[in-house]
Amino acid sequence: MSHSRSAPIPLASMRSQGLTGAITMPGDKSISHRALMFGAMAQGETIISGLLEGEDVLATGRAMAQLGAKIEKRGNYWHVEGVGVGNFKQPSEPLDFGNAGTGVRLAMGLVGTYPFVSRYEGDASLSVRPMNRVLNPLREIGVEVVEEQPGGKLPIALKGPANPAPIHYKTPMASAQVKSAIMLAGLIIPGTTTVIEEVHTRDHTEKMLQGFGAKVDVTTDADGVRTIKVEGLPDLRGQEVLVPGDPSSAAFPMVAALIVPGSDLTIENVLMNPTRTGLITSLIEMGGDIELTNQRKSGGEDIADIRVKHSQLKGVTIPAERAASMIDEYPVLAVAASFARGATHMPGIDELRVKESDRLAAVANGLKANGVDCIEGEDFLTVEGMGDQVPGGGMVETHLDHRIAMCFLVMGLAAQNAVKIDDSAMIATSFPSFVPDMTRLGAQFSKPNH
Ligand code: S3P
Repeated sequence: MSHSRSAPIPLASMRSQGLTGAITMPGDKSISHRALMFGAMAQGETIISGLLEGEDVLATGRAMAQLGAKIEKRGNYWHVEGVGVGNFKQPSEPLDFGNAGTGVRLAMGLVGTYPFVSRYEGDASLSVRPMNRVLNPLREIGVEVVEEQPGGKLPIALKGPANPAPIHYKTPMASAQVKSAIMLAGLIIPGTTTVIEEVHTRDHTEKMLQGFGAKVDVTTDADGVRTIKVEGLPDLRGQEVLVPGDPSSAAFPMVAALIVPGSDLTIENVLMNPTRTGLITSLIEMGGDIELTNQRKSGGEDIADIRVKHSQLKGVTIPAERAASMIDEYPVLAVAASFARGATHMPGIDELRVKESDRLAAVANGLKANGVDCIEGEDFLTVEGMGDQVPGGGMVETHLDHRIAMCFLVMGLAAQNAVKIDDSAMIATSFPSFVPDMTRLGAQFSKPNH
């Protein structure tokens, strides 16, 4: 059952003067989900500053409240009174995660092993995304999948066993969500749960759980394969969490500044965790004038401000090994590639097919609708750059995907003709202030007539 949603809000963007000034990023989405979940699970009070107040994260907050945590915003801080490990109460209603894959997959790990029935649901986009990647390891732990839709889709109901068993599990795909779900399940299983990942995906769960007092041991072998061991039944204590700005949101103003002539923009307070910075590396290789300033540490993470100026980009090949560190940034990279000279080749990106939409198809269709040639392979995308001659003028289908919406609005800021998107409403899931913030910097948006 997908729930109803409000009417779509079409929007157009048009060729703009240089984007100038400074913009502060909303809180990192990955860290915000985890701050609420770990705060809800830990004993005592967690105080969060910089939390992303986007729809995805707010849904996680509501779910944590249904499980017994007390969550309240006071001034600029979110206060979470947690229940202690193993003490979630059975939710009487289904947990509804809206559009958020991270929310639902991590929650199935966090709650699914409890010896009661818990139910999970989401919107039309989330309801067609694959959940077997989390259900399979949960089944090995002994969790019963009481209800699921064909192919392991939401709505799903889980019931944990009386005696859950620790597992030793190698993730079959590069996925921080799968890794995290298993680690969270391991927290209420006596003994040591082991997750092995061949590709280093974002490590926020490892770092933050250690910060909350969990015993998490990580070793990396000569080939870069990581073995993560989590001790069950730790005594977790509430913490202060400072959420840094989201590099996946910063990607949009960053690419906008690179492609709009005359731009000189500073994007402040951005997380620089190396598992998240693949886009910056790629844009610099393409010739982007990007400078990291004010580099500092905050809450155990590297943070910086990013100064970006308009640049003539050139096409490059993005190494497939870099995909995990920029997995959410390929749509906007494809827009940057449209304005480059020469072709940009992006191999090893089949995971894009199971994001909020099939992003490989959505990006390829959006590029074509705006006069940009590209080749969509099963697991790659090649974009033929057009320099400053991107025609635009197309209407883009966003398929309930916030990043598809934002990346094509960015395209319209430098294309010859306006770019329209069928729906901008989903932008609220991750970057609610995107349109007003970009407008303040000089971006032009308008409501299309048809
Ligand atoms: C996320 C992991 C990634 C990413 C998503 C956030 C996380 O998903 O695309 O936006 O917070 O763990 P996968 O684990 O499916 O790669």
